[in-house]
Amino acid sequence: MSLNPGITILKFGSSVLRSERDFPLSVHEVYRAWRHGSRVVAVVSALGSTTDDLLKRAEQLGLPPKPMALASLLATGEATAAALLALHLHRSGIPATNLDPAQAGLLTRGEPLDAEPVGLDRARILRELDRGVVVLPGFVGRDFAGRTTLLGRGGSDFTALYLAHELGGRCVLLKDVDGLYTADPNLPGSRARRYASLDWGTAIRAGGAVVQEKSLRFAEAVGLELTVTAPGAPAGTLIGPGPVRTVPPRPQPPPLRVALLGCGTVGGGVLERLLALRRFFEVVGVAVRDPRRERVPAVPRSLLNGDASELLDRPADVVVELVGGVDLPQRWIGRALAAGRHVVTANKALLANGIDALHGLAAGCGVRLLCSASVGGALPALETVRRAAAAGPVRSVSGVLNGTSNFVLEEIADGKSLRRAVAEAMRLGFAEADPTLDLDGTDAAQKLSLLAREAFGIPLDHHELERRGIERLDEETIAVLRSSDRTVRLVACCRRASRGLTGSVAPRVLPQDHPFARTRGAWNCLEVELESGVRITLSAQGAGRWPTTEAVLADLFDLVRLRSAGGAKHQVAGRETVEVAQ
Ligand code: HSE
Repeated sequence: MSLNPGITILKFGSSVLRSERDFPLSVHEVYRAWRHGSRVVAVVSALGSTTDDLLKRAEQLGLPPKPMALASLLATGEATAAALLALHLHRSGIPATNLDPAQAGLLTRGEPLDAEPVGLDRARILRELDRGVVVLPGFVGRDFAGRTTLLGRGGSDFTALYLAHELGGRCVLLKDVDGLYTADPNLPGSRARRYASLDWGTAIRAGGAVVQEKSLRFAEAVGLELTVTAPGAPAGTLIGPGPVRTVPPRPQPPPLRVALLGCGTVGGGVLERLLALRRFFEVVGVAVRDPRRERVPAVPRSLLNGDASELLDRPADVVVELVGGVDLPQRWIGRALAAGRHVVTANKALLANGIDALHGLAAGCGVRLLCSASVGGALPALETVRRAAAAGPVRSVSGVLNGTSNFVLEEIADGKSLRRAVAEAMRLGFAEADPTLDLDGTDAAQKLSLLAREAFGIPLDHHELERRGIERLDEETIAVLRSSDRTVRLVACCRRASRGLTGSVAPRVLPQDHPFARTRGAWNCLEVELESGVRITLSAQGAGRWPTTEAVLADLFDLVRLRSAGGAKHQVAGRETVEVAQ
């Protein structure tokens, strides 16, 4: 497998981003591609009817609007949507940069309201992609005089296709339909079929309102393939050289039934997302220790259950375990798997003590145990290590794997006391129920053992790791922490040794320009080094409600797609594979 990650251009149209409420689903789509190992550019249209509303405002003046002024006015719709998507990505702990058309060097020529893209600052975008997701407004460019121009109605498609061509990326246009159809599938008695693939010419005739015609002509001229699909859909339409191939429309599967165990920092975030995504998920119940306690978000009374055992008996497709602790969750997970339910968990303490047995049980029962959120929050640590190991033997895995201790070290560097810093980490929802596990390196050691399993296929008993925490920093270490040229990070590291593996978790002094030293707040940073010398470094927020929720939702969406695909690994538009942790 190549370690040079491909680029995916995801375009979110106004039919997908209808209102503010739709951003989180777009974030899930971006995260899915990024977690899959792609570098991602997200191109966005204005929200819902914004462009029409702005047009009306211009027309109300009663004069034919001046094209340049109209272009500037309409461009505000895309600028707002792009900035909001970047903010939503930040909230989920995914590194993202928002570039405007001038920063992206998106040059156009032709009519100011119906221009064509002719240039791009590739180097700038590639540089930004090394740091994370790049978000760009669609539809808008700059002419050679630096004035705002537009690419014609539906022009965000053109932005996405042009970027894909210039960057050598894969282009996915996300719409409110999962592809192009032979006729309108929503008409009563419709016998419409979905095109699984078709050539550009047929797409121009069939695509009509779905994809901007001008951009399809461009794709044909440059021989660019593109996929049209909907968020969460397992399939789409591949537009390229053809052949024309149609398939029956896919009936909308019933929502995945989810039993949620735990509704704390992460469980509350997961519940909020599940309730907002009723097309994909049905929450059958939420087990909590104290059903009378007030919660944010409020849990519908009909869902609350003080008895996890009773909830486990209800029909469900998947059990999401976000309780923490080991003994009870272990029993519940075992019971759920044995009853033929998939399990999604973030419980690294439990997994570090027995992941192989649980995977064995899951496999024997024909279901999946997914645990992306157990290491790294929004940092796809397990997935990255798995991909690296598939590419060649791994020499070492190291990283800042505990968000709380990283946050605490920064707070101490800023002059706060350990006690105040830990209290703040608890308030922000970064810390474990017992923060000693964060500070003494236990949490990082458990995560390291899970990463080692992926990297080397050899168990690494976290109890046997050399482990020092940050709970008692001496004066000298605090002085380094507060110096300008060096800093201290709690680093977990393991590598091959002559016999088996060797590993440790300990505070390390690092130069300020080291990637671990540059890891801020509750962010994590992972470095995988292959025997070939190749290094992969990745950062994202490792703790907190929304980053961890993102990883749990990504596992749940994998199950949605897996089920839609008939339980087997499935080709999406002949290209993409649903990746589910083994
Ligand atoms: N307490 C953990 C941390 C939460 O601070 O990293 C995420 O595993």
